[in-house]
Amino acid sequence: MKILSIALILLSTTCFASDYQPTAGASGAQMFREACAACHGDDGTGKFGLFFDLSTSTLLDAQMKEAIQQGGLMMPSFANIKGKELDVLVTYIRSLGRVIAIKQ
Ligand code: HEC
Repeated sequence: MKILSIALILLSTTCFASDYQPTAGASGAQMFREACAACHGDDGTGKFGLFFDLSTSTLLDAQMKEAIQQGGLMMPSFANIKGKELDVLVTYIRSLGRVIAIKQ
C-alpha cells in the first residue's frame, strides 16, 4: 500500500506543474506542510529516503527559489509560490537545517 501511494504521488506529479496556491501571508511552515512535506518530510529531511534532504541543501537562496519555481525531474514546479511567499518559504527551509544542526 505504501509503495502504491508513493507510485501514485510520483505519477501524478512527474514533470507537471503544481497549481498549489499559497494563501496570502501564509507562514513558511504552513506552505511547507501543505505543498512540500508529502515528499520532503515534515522536518525537511526527505521522505522514503528517496527524496532530497532539504535540511542539508547547499543551494544558495536564489538557486533554491529557482528549484521551487521550476521543479525537477520528479519534483513539480510551483510557479504560484513567488514574491513574499517564496522568501518566507525559503527562510523556513533554512530554519529546518538550523534546527537539525542544533539537535546534533
Ligand atoms: C512530488 C514530490 C515533491 C514535492 C511535492 C516537492 N518536492 Fe522538492 N524535490 C523533490 C525531488 C524528487 C527533488 C530532487 C530533484 C528532482 O529530481 O526533482 C526535489 C528537490 C528540491 C529542491 C532542491 C534541493 C537541492 O539541494 O538540490 C528544493 C529546494 C525543493 N525540492 C524544495 C521543495 C519545496 C519548497 C516544495 C514545496 C513547495 C517541494 N520541494 C515539493 C520532490 C518533491
